[in-house]
Amino acid sequence: MLDLSRREFLLGSAGTAAAFAIGGVAASHAAAADHALTLASLDHRIMPDAITKNMMSFSPDGPPPVLRFKQGQKTSIDVTNNLDEASVVHWHGFRIANAMDGVPYLTQYPIEAGQSFRYEFTPPDAGTYWYHPHCNTLEQMARGLTGVMVVEEEEDPGFDRDLPLNIRDFRLGGDGQFISLFKPRSAARSGTLGTVSTVNWEMDPVLELEAGSLVRLRLAVTDVTRVGTYDITGGEAQLIALDSNPLPEPLPATDILLSPGQRADVALRVPDSEEEIVNLVLKRSNGNRVVARFRPKGPSARRDLRELKPLPQNPVMLPDLKNAEVMEFVFGWSPEGDAPQSSLCGTLGYTFWSINRKAWPGDLPGPFDPLATMKMGKSYILRLRNETPNDHPIHLHGVSFQLLRSNKRKLPPLITDTALLQKEETMDVALVADNPGDWAFHCHVIEHQKTGLAGFLRIEG
Ligand code: C2O
Ligand code: CU
Ligand code: CU
Repeated sequence: MLDLSRREFLLGSAGTAAAFAIGGVAASHAAAADHALTLASLDHRIMPDAITKNMMSFSPDGPPPVLRFKQGQKTSIDVTNNLDEASVVHWHGFRIANAMDGVPYLTQYPIEAGQSFRYEFTPPDAGTYWYHPHCNTLEQMARGLTGVMVVEEEEDPGFDRDLPLNIRDFRLGGDGQFISLFKPRSAARSGTLGTVSTVNWEMDPVLELEAGSLVRLRLAVTDVTRVGTYDITGGEAQLIALDSNPLPEPLPATDILLSPGQRADVALRVPDSEEEIVNLVLKRSNGNRVVARFRPKGPSARRDLRELKPLPQNPVMLPDLKNAEVMEFVFGWSPEGDAPQSSLCGTLGYTFWSINRKAWPGDLPGPFDPLATMKMGKSYILRLRNETPNDHPIHLHGVSFQLLRSNKRKLPPLITDTALLQKEETMDVALVADNPGDWAFHCHVIEHQKTGLAGFLRIEG
C-alpha cells in the first residue's frame, strides 16, 4: 500500500494532485508521452435511432482508441481525467512495475477530476490486452471506459490485417439511454447483464475484409458481467492464443468460452467470394446471436493459414511445482454484509461477497492486510475454491499463472491472468512470484468486485 504519511510529508499543505505521483512520474513533463488518453463524458450513437447520453470514453469524441505497443519497448501514456469524478487506469494483463498498475491507494492515488498522471512501462509480453479504470469501476466501465491494447511481437507473424474486437454490452432502454446500471438482486447472484450487444461500440457491425486474406481477430470481452461462448462460423478460423498467450497447437475457433476480462486471438482465412459471410456468434440458451459480420471484398488474395509463423511463447517463468507452497482461497458470500465505506472511487452500497471470509471494504486509503504474502522468486500453487453457485472470473494483477487442475473438468495448461472459476469448482493454478508489490486479486464480474469479492496479494521484494 502507499505510505500516506510520506505523501503528506512530500506535499505539505500546498500539494496538488498532479504532484503526487509517488513511485511514478507527474504528468507535467516537458516531452510529450508516446500516447495520450483523455477520460471524458460524451454522447454517442450506439442504437440506430438514438444518441446515448452520458457515456464515458478514453477519447472526447468516440470509442476508446486501440493502444498499440511493441513487446519489450518502453512506452509512456499521459492520462488526463476530464470526467467530473476521480479515476485511475489499469493495464489488464501487463506484468509491469507495481507503481504503474493503476489501482487506487494500493499503487497510486486516484487521478482526481481535472488532473493528469503519466504512466511509463515496458510490456514484457506480446498479445491482446485491455485497459479500464480501477475507480468507480461499475459505473465508469458500464458507461464505456473499456479499451483494447495490442502488444506486437518482435517478429511479424505475417497477417494481412490485425483487427481488435472490443466485445461488450451496454444497459440501454428502448430510447437508447442508460437504465439502472445494476440490480442489487443480480449483483448478489451472477451479475446484471446488459441489453444491447456491441463490437467496437457498434450494434450488428458488418466489417469488410479483403477476400482470401489472413486476418488476426483479437476478441476482447470487456463487458462488466457476461460470461459467453463464441463461435466463428464461415471461412477457415483457428484459435491461436488465449489471454495473450499462444496455444501450443491451434484449436478450432468454436466454443470459445470467455468471461469478463478474457481475450482470444483467432487466425481467420477470409473466404474467396463476397457471398460467404463470416460471423462472430455469441451462443445463448435462448438463441444464438450474431454480434459481428465480416464480408469478403474484392479479388481473392489467395493466402493460406499455413503461411503464418507460429506465435512465440511469452517469457513467463514456469513454476517449480515440486517445491511450490500451496495457498488456499475461498470465494464465498460475505459473512456480515455490512455496507461498504464511502470512497472517492464509489461504492454500490452493498456487500455480498468475500475472499477467505473477508469482504473488501472498498477503495480506501487503508492500510489493509494482504490476503497472502509471497516471497520474491518462489513458486506457489493457489487453490481457488468457489463455494458459491455462481461463476467468478478470478483475476490477478502483476503476474501470470498457469492452470493446473480442476475438480470438475479437464483444464488445458494455459497461462493467463484471468481464470473462470465455475460454480462450486476448485481449481489449482501456479505461479512464480517474480514481480514485487501489492497486486489486486478480484472477480472480474464488476458487481462482485465492488460488493466484496476483492483483495490483494503481496509479493515481498
Ligand atoms: Cu481488469 Cu483489477 O482488473
Ligand atoms: Cu488487471
Ligand atoms: Cu464473481
